[in-house]
Amino acid sequence: MTGTLAAAHVAPHLRGRFGKPYLYEPECESTQLLLLGSGLPEGAAAAADHQTGGKGRHGRQWMAPAGTSVLVSVMLHPPADRHLPELSLVAALAAAEAIEGATGLTAQIKWPNDVMLNRRKVGGILCELSDATVVCGIGINVNQTRDELPLDAPTEPGSLRTLTGATYDRAVLLGSLLFRLERIYDGWRHGGLSDLYGEIGARDFLRGRHVTIDGNEAVASMIRPDGRLEVWTGNGHGETRVVESGEVLFFR
Ligand code: BTN
Repeated sequence: MTGTLAAAHVAPHLRGRFGKPYLYEPECESTQLLLLGSGLPEGAAAAADHQTGGKGRHGRQWMAPAGTSVLVSVMLHPPADRHLPELSLVAALAAAEAIEGATGLTAQIKWPNDVMLNRRKVGGILCELSDATVVCGIGINVNQTRDELPLDAPTEPGSLRTLTGATYDRAVLLGSLLFRLERIYDGWRHGGLSDLYGEIGARDFLRGRHVTIDGNEAVASMIRPDGRLEVWTGNGHGETRVVESGEVLFFR
C-alpha cells in the first residue's frame, strides 16, 4: 500500500470547505454508503483505502486492491431546479484537472462519467440522489500495476502508474481533487454547465469517434453545452441525435 487516505495524511492538503467533515475508513463496503442518507452538510467527504463492495455505474462493481486508489464520495446539496446528470461532468472535470496537476498530462472526459488518460479509463464517477442530496462518488486508479487492473472492464482501464511509470501520493491527489471539485461545483451552481463548457469541451474524448450507444452505432459529434451528447447516426442521411444517458463504447 502506498501511503493512506487517513485523516492525518489528508488534512494538510485540504484547502477549502470540501472535505470538511472528512470521514475515513481503512476498509468499508462503499464510501457511498457512508454518506447516503447521512444528513451531513455539503462538502462532507468519505474516503477509504479499500472497498469490499465498491459501486460502479450500470450495477457494476468498482474494484481496486487496498491502498492503490483514490476512493471518495462527496455530499452535494444542489439547487432543486437543476439538471442533476450535469454533476457527473462537473466531477469528471475536477478529476481530470487533478490528474493533470499530478501527471502533467492532459486528461479527457468520456461522456458521461469517465476520465481518460492516453485512451485508458483511469477514473469514474457515480452520482446517486437521495432526499434531494447527491452523493458524488469518484474513483481514480492511481498506483495499480498492470496486473492489478480489472480484466473485464468495458473500457480498457489504466492507472496513473501504468501510464506514466511513476507512483503518486494519494492524499495529495485527493486534496487537489476536493479543492478543484469545490471550485468547479461552485461555478456550476452559479452559472450552470455553460460556464464550464470551454473546459469540458476541450477535453471531450468521444468527439469524432465511432461509438456504440447501448448497442447502436453512431459517430459522436460533441458534448453539448447542456451536457447531453450529440451524435450522427450511421443511416446515411446525416441525421443528428441527442442522447440523454447510456453506455458508450468506442472503436479505437
Ligand atoms: C464507474 O465508472 O462505473 C463509476 C465508478 C465510481 C467508483 C467510486 S469509488 C468511490 C465511490 N464509492 C463507490 O462505491 N463508488 C464510487
